[in-house]
Amino acid sequence: MFDFEYFAPTRVIFGRSAEERTGALLRELGVSRVLIHYGGGSAVKSGLLGRVTASLDEAGIAHASLGGVVPNPRVSKVREGARLALQFGAELILAVGGGSVIDSSKAIGYAAAEPEHDVWEIYDRKRAPKACLPVACVLTIAAAGSEMSNSSVITNEETGEKRGCRSNLCRPRLAIMNPELTASLPPYQTAAGCTDILMHTLERYFTQGGNMELTDQIAEGLMRTVMKNALILRDDPSNYDARAEVMWASSLSHNDLTGLGADGMDFVSHGMEHELGGMFDVTHGAGLAVIVPAWLEYVAAKNPAKPAQFAERVMDVTPTGDPLADAREGISRLREFFTSIGMPVTMRQLGIDNPDIDLLVHKVHENKGATFGGYIPLTAADTRAIYLSAR
Ligand code: NZQ
Ligand code: ZN
Repeated sequence: MFDFEYFAPTRVIFGRSAEERTGALLRELGVSRVLIHYGGGSAVKSGLLGRVTASLDEAGIAHASLGGVVPNPRVSKVREGARLALQFGAELILAVGGGSVIDSSKAIGYAAAEPEHDVWEIYDRKRAPKACLPVACVLTIAAAGSEMSNSSVITNEETGEKRGCRSNLCRPRLAIMNPELTASLPPYQTAAGCTDILMHTLERYFTQGGNMELTDQIAEGLMRTVMKNALILRDDPSNYDARAEVMWASSLSHNDLTGLGADGMDFVSHGMEHELGGMFDVTHGAGLAVIVPAWLEYVAAKNPAKPAQFAERVMDVTPTGDPLADAREGISRLREFFTSIGMPVTMRQLGIDNPDIDLLVHKVHENKGATFGGYIPLTAADTRAIYLSAR
């Protein structure tokens, strides 16, 4: 096992009606003015936003609000939010929504904390952030794991670039999670969310790390739990226990727990998917369902050991003594699983007919460097082959 540091500073409040405690919980953080940030309308329609603002009023917390965050959140909205946060004197950004709203809130936090700089510079790797206004969230979709992660992903709509920034500065102080809130999700978003959760652990599972017994078993347990409950939710979307399992998995899958002691992470598939998101505005989890099996097939041919372990322990493949054959059977079952929950497994099914593969390859390596990947380091020739096979 490799040395590691684990930092999970987010206070999690989990369960039915948790959002009604928002005001009191923020008071405990010593906050008296907040900017509420939300998305395209689901939180208004469901009445959640009204309940949250009532709770802030009751706690005597002044609030301004800004909605309109879209999936693959835009840097222009971040700049608007930062101006408003500064004008209002917000001490914290309260995200009411999913990964897109939380990421936009984190980016507003960065922008408002260093207003002398343009915030895109930190996503474009021109500088590292030095400060971030505190962020808290009321989560409405189990998916990105942004509620406990150190990451935020923003799209520059002028250049079509989608870029992430990782820093402990942005980890939410408070994550309020009521699984009931996710029952109103369209089935496609529930399935895409489950796919993303599965992938945050799968991307950490595939490393060259040595002895990883406990971490591997935590990862395998999480992946099995997510797949099982994704199928339950397909057939019974209002099943509370399945909603709760998946929501908790969302946080644990991306708060670093499932990769502790591994020698880094892979995250090639995320890097490749983010280019699809930036260029074609696809749903992140759905894009991953297309890229991950293609990537797995490619790396299994080079080193089938871990894909075969995944096949046996997560996909219930009985070992045949031929690791590559076992790995391939596991990948085939993974594709069947995605199809069974309504996810695409090719770019065409994702709605991308004639992708410019050269441009995708150029952009991904421009962002990630000439070679990247923790399980098998990949060059432009490799990512090209993977994009081609994902068509
Ligand atoms: O905008 P509204 O109207 O709220 O609709 C949203 C949106 O259309 C809807 N929705 C959310 N909660 C709902 C609901 N509809 C009905 N009922 C509810 N309770 O669902 C749609 C998707 O929301 P979004 O926030 O985009 O989903 P998700 O949480 O999957 O976030 C995706 C974004 O997170 C990034 C992705 O790249 C993508 O931009 N990621 C962020 C990460 C992080 N910060 O750690 C890691 C991930 O790997 C990922 O890259
Ligand atoms: Zn993801």
